[in-house]
Amino acid sequence: MSNTQAIGTPPGSTLSTPSPTELHDQDPLAAEAEKSMLFKTSSLKPIYLVVATTKCTHQGRTRLGIGFKGGLPWPMIKADMAYFRKVTTNGKSNHSASASRNSVIMGRKTYESIPDKFRPLTGRTNIIVTRSDQQALAERIVKELRTGSHKQLTEEVDIVISSDPNNNTVQVEASSIEEKLPNIVVTSSLTSATNMADAETYCIGGSEIYGMFLKDTLLRPRLRILQTEIQKLEDEEVFECDTFWPEELEGSSEWQEAEQKEVVAWTGIEVPQGGDQWAVDEKVGVRIRVRGWERSAR
Ligand SMILES: NC(=O)c1ccc[n+]([C@@H]2O[C@H](COP(=O)([O-])OP(=O)(O)OC[C@H]3O[C@@H](n4cnc5c(N)ncnc54)[C@H](OP(=O)(O)O)[C@@H]3O)[C@@H](O)[C@H]2O)c1
Repeated sequence: MSNTQAIGTPPGSTLSTPSPTELHDQDPLAAEAEKSMLFKTSSLKPIYLVVATTKCTHQGRTRLGIGFKGGLPWPMIKADMAYFRKVTTNGKSNHSASASRNSVIMGRKTYESIPDKFRPLTGRTNIIVTRSDQQALAERIVKELRTGSHKQLTEEVDIVISSDPNNNTVQVEASSIEEKLPNIVVTSSLTSATNMADAETYCIGGSEIYGMFLKDTLLRPRLRILQTEIQKLEDEEVFECDTFWPEELEGSSEWQEAEQKEVVAWTGIEVPQGGDQWAVDEKVGVRIRVRGWERSAR
């Protein structure tokens, strides 16, 4: 990859808050304080877990299925895809293309489950969490940018991979401010993932990563859930699933359902398939609707 290079700590970028290392080259304690202050500031904003679920029985228990054999349990549902794209790209957005973008945080397996032609996700900062070699994953993603659906957009563009060991992040940055070109961050740390996020933050799965957010005592109070419920039109039929949403939602004392108007206000995006309104996809044989959940006041 001739125009890809690894360099040291990156200069300040539009992707992230300034690195504490840059701010306090000489003073690690001050840098740590700055880091924690940045984290506290960002902790005021909600983080949305965006998930599509279908009820299924697993080991004798009713569960919310989200995946099967590394992909989704159902064929592509256009209305769900359109809602996902709108919310994660434009949700609450009044930001310009080059300044701040919404972020989608996902596990490495979810990244790899996205069909080649859709990944990385256009117009958003894709933050991918992995315990494996971050540089190698970033290099693979650059290759995908050069050869996949972003090929034309990246033809005349320099793409640089830079690492920031203090933040456990590797970033892929393109020299173009083309609106559709995604920003990429690869990280091993949930804190870095949430601190890197610029505008709105959407965690898009999968099960392991939802579980990390739900278990994190600092993040948990900030969470809201945007759930697309999926049911087969033939009521007695279900989709086969092997990957599940980690918790109970319905009937849980931890979560309460938000009114539809609140759900619309969260993102500024209309929900055509919200509340009692189910959208029907005859081709796939499903009905879907969106529900919002927030932490229970109890
Ligand atoms: N229905 C939906 O809305 C929805 C949404 C998203 C995904 N899905 C489905 O869910 C399935 C994938 O979910 P999954 O739970 O298997 O995988 P995942 O959460 O997408 O990714 C798991 C990977 O994340 C990394 N990881 C996990 N914990 C980590 C930690 N503490 N620190 C650093 N990295 C960590 C590891 O990557 P490395 O192995 O690289 O170290 C791990 O293998 C697929 O079937 C997908 O289609 C469904």
